[in-house]
Amino acid sequence: MITKIMQDAMNEQINKELYSSYLYLSMAAYFEDKNLPGFAHWMRVQESEEREHAMKFYDFILERGGRVMLKALDAPKTEWTSTLEVAEEVAAHEAKVTASIYALYETALKEKDYPAQIMLQWFITEQVEEEKNAAQIVANLKLIEAHGTAVMVLDHQLGKRGGD
Ligand code: FEO
Repeated sequence: MITKIMQDAMNEQINKELYSSYLYLSMAAYFEDKNLPGFAHWMRVQESEEREHAMKFYDFILERGGRVMLKALDAPKTEWTSTLEVAEEVAAHEAKVTASIYALYETALKEKDYPAQIMLQWFITEQVEEEKNAAQIVANLKLIEAHGTAVMVLDHQLGKRGGD
């Protein structure tokens, strides 16, 4: 059975994952408004992943005989000054999520909750991917800002070279 400390920490994490979903849905709406359906699509996919993350914690608490208790969600931001600002905010937000997953893992160690430790390892791996993807989008947008889109096209062409 899950301990009260672990249960409370995981309920907090459900809130954080659902807030991530809410924030990314707001970013998707911003991109739709700016006529950037590709960026909006990317944010929508991110948004649905965040709901899946929340449900992983939800189901884990139930499987371990705990009680899921949902909390209020903060209202997300609705306006940004640029695409780059949104991307930087996603990267910063994912870094915060990573920190909270690490804190949760520390709690699982202290509580000697071995099933939680195994479950959280999936999230630790997932956060590596999440941070990498966000950093890549920030880097690409900065490249475009500094050198225009032609450098991206050239980079793509060079990336297709076969070995000798
Ligand atoms: Fe649930 Fe993007 O981390």
